Amino acid sequence: MKCVDDFRLRLGRHELVPIVIGGMGVDISTAELALEAARLGGIGHISDAMLPTVSDRHYHTKYVKDKLKQYKYNVANSDKSAVHFDLGLLAEATKDHVRRTMERKRGSGLVFINCMEKLTMNAPKETLRVRLNSALDGGIDGITLAAGLHLGSFALIEDHPRFRDAFLGIIVSSLRALQLFLKKSARTGRLPDFVVVEGPLAGGHLGFGMDWAKYDLATIVAEIRAWLQQEKLDIPLIPAGGIFTGGDATVFLENGAAAVQVATRFTVSKECGLPDEVKQEYFKANEEDIEVNGISPTGYPMRMLKKSPAIGSGIRPNCEAYGYLLDARGNCAYIEAWNREVALHPGAKKIQVWDKTCLCTHMRNFDVWTCGHYAYRLKDTTRRNPDGSYQLLTAEHVFNDYRYSKGDSIALPAPAAE
Ligand SMILES: Cc1cc2nc3c(=O)[nH]c(=O)nc-3n(C[C@H](O)[C@H](O)[C@H](O)COP(=O)(O)O)c2cc1C
Repeated sequence: MKCVDDFRLRLGRHELVPIVIGGMGVDISTAELALEAARLGGIGHISDAMLPTVSDRHYHTKYVKDKLKQYKYNVANSDKSAVHFDLGLLAEATKDHVRRTMERKRGSGLVFINCMEKLTMNAPKETLRVRLNSALDGGIDGITLAAGLHLGSFALIEDHPRFRDAFLGIIVSSLRALQLFLKKSARTGRLPDFVVVEGPLAGGHLGFGMDWAKYDLATIVAEIRAWLQQEKLDIPLIPAGGIFTGGDATVFLENGAAAVQVATRFTVSKECGLPDEVKQEYFKANEEDIEVNGISPTGYPMRMLKKSPAIGSGIRPNCEAYGYLLDARGNCAYIEAWNREVALHPGAKKIQVWDKTCLCTHMRNFDVWTCGHYAYRLKDTTRRNPDGSYQLLTAEHVFNDYRYSKGDSIALPAPAAE
């Protein structure tokens, strides 16, 4: 019986362990987690979501405080269209985080950045251009285009000196999305170096409607693979979503996948950015504690624990400090939902908003407990501590379990020292 370690992912001159840890914003897939994947010979992702905020937390910058100061006059205003990002500061925060991460890279693996188009930031094209180019400036090994069709994204970086040597890929959930991307990017004369095919069991935002349960990852991968073969396009495919064991991963590799992208198993690792109490919530979750809902203002369904504090929260929109989801007209579906509830409950001290959430604030505060469909199996991947809590894992342990375990088996960590 084979295991993941019997396969290798070839990207340019690199020969990698075919395990990719997916991007998990906002700072859930930390630099530490991504660097572990690289040290162990695979690929790790940092995320470019809300990097000025992440920078303030790690490097003691003051981007958020300064932005809030600049727009303080607008806090009570229900119209947020005046709030803009300073592109120079956005470039600085992005480049700096990437550079600091890359300086710490050890081992033969790679570090990529997950870049979500849906972070429209009241100037979709301009801010995306800055984020992509700054990541390349900072020395990132590769970029994974996510949360959007990215029809114009290659064109935004085609003049960058690293456009042809950095690894560039995209996440799609259908053949149609891939066809559109290839068609629109053809003018740049460059194919993606890899394509992540994300199925409906993934964590984060889903590239499906609320009928996600009708779709199946293996079927979508097979369809895309057949079409690429027919078109004589040799692009490595990386399935993602619900690949929970080394055995699951091996089946995809045996069927022609170049690597697998995984995330949920690493949410309970020490290197993951979630607070320890939240990691315990992930461990404790049962199947009925997880839902796919529509509270993300992006319009994409999102899977999360039903206990997520973000659900029902009616906090005032924080766009003056954040504003990452403001669309091209300075609007966000949460602002609309919040304004509606305020109008319905005049004078109320506290309101609740159930249909949308302030994703910026709640992702920043780790209050959206997004997870993959199989998060309810995390408890089977570790041991209990004497106090009943679950033992956190090292990223190395989880990575090696994917790498070496066969069939349905999952390696448990060594018992924690007494
Ligand atoms: C906590 C969490 C946050 C995520 N955030 C993002 C994100 O910011 N961008 C993205 O493209 N995918 C995101 N994802 C999806 C993962 O990168 C990955 O493709 C997917 O979850 C893999 O499926 P698995 O979790 O079942 O292994 C997230 C997943 C999780 C579990």
